[in-house]
Amino acid sequence: ADRAKISLCRTEEIAEGSVVKVEHGDLVLAVYNVDGEFFVTDDLCTHGPGSLSEGELYGHIIECNFHGGQFDIRDGAVAGPPCMDPVKTYPVSIEDGRIFIEL
Ligand code: FES
Repeated sequence: ADRAKISLCRTEEIAEGSVVKVEHGDLVLAVYNVDGEFFVTDDLCTHGPGSLSEGELYGHIIECNFHGGQFDIRDGAVAGPPCMDPVKTYPVSIEDGRIFIEL
């Protein structure tokens, strides 16, 4: 099947070391900039109602502000309790200053 490629936002909308919530249709995503490299995960924490874009970013680790659970934004792996399930990540590409993901 063809993969859908979706344009999310411009790179300059996400400052280095920050995370921004971006919605696209039914998708609610967290877009991260770590030292000029971009990563995208689902915004919803897998543990509960936490919004990862409202959490704290420590390098490649996002800490949910709801119960303090952590994920590695590079692969979505759990990096700290009480989270148990990984968060979904998306392949990112940059073209003409825009951030794209593949579904
Ligand atoms: Fe994110 Fe509980 S909702 S750690």
